[in-house]
Amino acid sequence: MEKIGIAVIGAGVIGRRHVQEIARNESCRLVAIADPSPGSASYAASLSVPLYADYRELLKHERIDAAIVCTPNHTHLEVGLAFIERKIPVLMEKPVADDLESANALADASKEAGVAMLVGHHRRHNPVVRAAKEAVASGKIGTLVMANIMCLLYKPDDYFNVPWRRQPGGGPILINLIHEIDLLRFICGEIVSVQAVSSNKVRGFDVEDSAACTLRLANGALANISLSDTTATPWGWDTAAGEDRELFAYRPVPTHFFAGTNGAVTMPDLTMWSYQGAKGRDQPIHDARLAVPEENTYANQLEHFVDVVRGSVRPVIDGHDAARTLAATLAVEESARLGRLIELNVT
Ligand SMILES: NC(=O)c1ccc[n+]([C@@H]2O[C@H](COP(=O)([O-])OP(=O)(O)OC[C@H]3O[C@@H](n4cnc5c(N)ncnc54)[C@H](O)[C@@H]3O)[C@@H](O)[C@H]2O)c1
Repeated sequence: MEKIGIAVIGAGVIGRRHVQEIARNESCRLVAIADPSPGSASYAASLSVPLYADYRELLKHERIDAAIVCTPNHTHLEVGLAFIERKIPVLMEKPVADDLESANALADASKEAGVAMLVGHHRRHNPVVRAAKEAVASGKIGTLVMANIMCLLYKPDDYFNVPWRRQPGGGPILINLIHEIDLLRFICGEIVSVQAVSSNKVRGFDVEDSAACTLRLANGALANISLSDTTATPWGWDTAAGEDRELFAYRPVPTHFFAGTNGAVTMPDLTMWSYQGAKGRDQPIHDARLAVPEENTYANQLEHFVDVVRGSVRPVIDGHDAARTLAATLAVEESARLGRLIELNVT
């Protein structure tokens, strides 16, 4: 079968990660890169592919089967629409857009044109996440009652030398929490309401450094997410799951806890907890590990995208699904700002 020809639009941190995976994948090849930054010329030359400062020039001159869009969030709508209008399937990095109106406009355009858009919530391609989803959905832990997620990390102090990271929108709610919200929706189901408080007390920037979020799910379960980018702990997915060990030092500890009426499961270690006889805190509780193979989550995502482009599968997360993840994330920000519960429309 012919290789899928892919263009990468935006060759920054995550764009280069996608380029690495394309090079390792036998079903696709990198055709060209678009990025206006001065450093991109030598990068594209090192890969022996053409570079375009403007993605519209790339569209004029190159024949491609698909695009991976890794530009800043506020450009996702414009760039995504340009590819969808030309019937080119897109892997759009998360968040699908920076506001709900843009997210829905992109999702609608993809649906109406019949051109697939996969959104880069890469954790959905991790076998650990899929095993936990199966444990919850199959009823192995009984009825889900509570999910408890810790996203407690320490961003190096020089991370904040970039001004937008100190401003509203540049903090852990919109950068990090969105991954937790998407995981929660994927594993446990839709979120119907959100109550949150946030704080900027430690770093003292205009944007929050920490937040505590309580969520109600459509199936009646409750969830808590603890979020901070100023805590020196290993209790965050990037550290514990080891999905990118070049970027984040690996330390596997449990960070995600799903508790049901008959048992519990934790991630990323996939420990299943249950009573073997009568249930009760006076009884010994048993633990066992679910075995899953260790896989490269980004490689899995690309493999899935190739199948999406070939039309053999539908995206694991499309534009409308990703818009719901964005809506719940924005609701956390709104709840913390207004000091009240926010109901979500999940119909
Ligand atoms: N899935 C993940 O875990 C993950 C991780 C990091 C970033 N992201 C997402 O990926 C996107 C990029 O983030 P990043 O950290 O790589 O940012 P970055 O700043 O490192 O890279 C963005 C690149 O896009 C280029 N660019 C800007 N406007 C452009 C345009 N109109 N056309 C072409 N290129 C353009 C910039 O020159 C830069 O090289 C964001 O949406 C971000 O949220 C996702």
